[in-house]
Amino acid sequence: MTNNTLTEKEYSDFCSYLEKHCGIVLGQSKQYLVRSRLSPLLSQYDCASLSDLIKKVMDIRQRELRAVVIDAMTTNETLWFRDRYPFELLTKRLLPEFSKLNRPLRIWSSASSSGQEPYSIIMTCLEYKAKNPGCLARGFEVLGTDISMSMLNHCKKGEYDSLALGRGLSKERLQKYFIPSSQGCYQVKPEVQRHAKFRQFNLLDSFAILGKFDIIFCRNVLIYFSPEIKRQIFGNFAKAANSRGYLMLGASESINGLTTEFEMDRCAAGIVYRSIK
Ligand SMILES: C[S@@+](CC[C@H](N)C(=O)[O-])C[C@H]1O[C@@H](n2cnc3c(N)ncnc32)[C@H](O)[C@@H]1O
Repeated sequence: MTNNTLTEKEYSDFCSYLEKHCGIVLGQSKQYLVRSRLSPLLSQYDCASLSDLIKKVMDIRQRELRAVVIDAMTTNETLWFRDRYPFELLTKRLLPEFSKLNRPLRIWSSASSSGQEPYSIIMTCLEYKAKNPGCLARGFEVLGTDISMSMLNHCKKGEYDSLALGRGLSKERLQKYFIPSSQGCYQVKPEVQRHAKFRQFNLLDSFAILGKFDIIFCRNVLIYFSPEIKRQIFGNFAKAANSRGYLMLGASESINGLTTEFEMDRCAAGIVYRSIK
């Protein structure tokens, strides 16, 4: 056995551990994923083998290691204005509905990854406001949360390299909302950043500390969770949504069979869900 092979039991214990702490269901035959994502941590945490690392992380006192391992096991794939239709829906349908709100509009990007989703939402709101003077007069706030601390640090810094910028961001928006920083990177301008708040948050935890939202984005994360966990999260979204608030899921995700607290709202641009209360 090499230093990065796991026994069946070690693998299945690690799968249960991961699901319990962050909801991610690895499924069978994903040993290669565990190997490729955790092996780089071995020397850093003074472990001779992958089984050592797995044993160590399961020790309840190893809170820092737990966060690092969960961070390594998350998939952070994202891009600007992903799938386009959610942002079209925001502009054409959701923002006009909230345009006369006599308090700031609250939007939550609940799996914000490196920030492309929350910043795309902010750019969409800024463009809507510019085209519709007097609308959203009390302002808006976008809360970005993610379980991964490294992703949140990325969000807070708001700095992106050419590879990340090349994925879904137009030249016009790059010029308008970013300033050049170091080594070909660009940073989000302060006037965009001032609408964003970021904090670490695990979707398995109680939502009560976050307050209520008019629009919740939860895209491309529920696909990793079991139906039971999805049910629990939808229940919490229903409590966190303001009356008739909206829930935007990823293109391949749906509430079917998992909650009756939201109803489908099929618009020309695509599907959004709406709290029934
Ligand atoms: C594939 S990215 C999706 C990013 C963005 N929403 C999008 O659609 O482009 C999934 C994100 O979910 C986060 N994540 C995974 N499990 C989580 C959990 N239990 N609580 C909060 N975030 C989680 C990961 O860290 C990752 O950044």
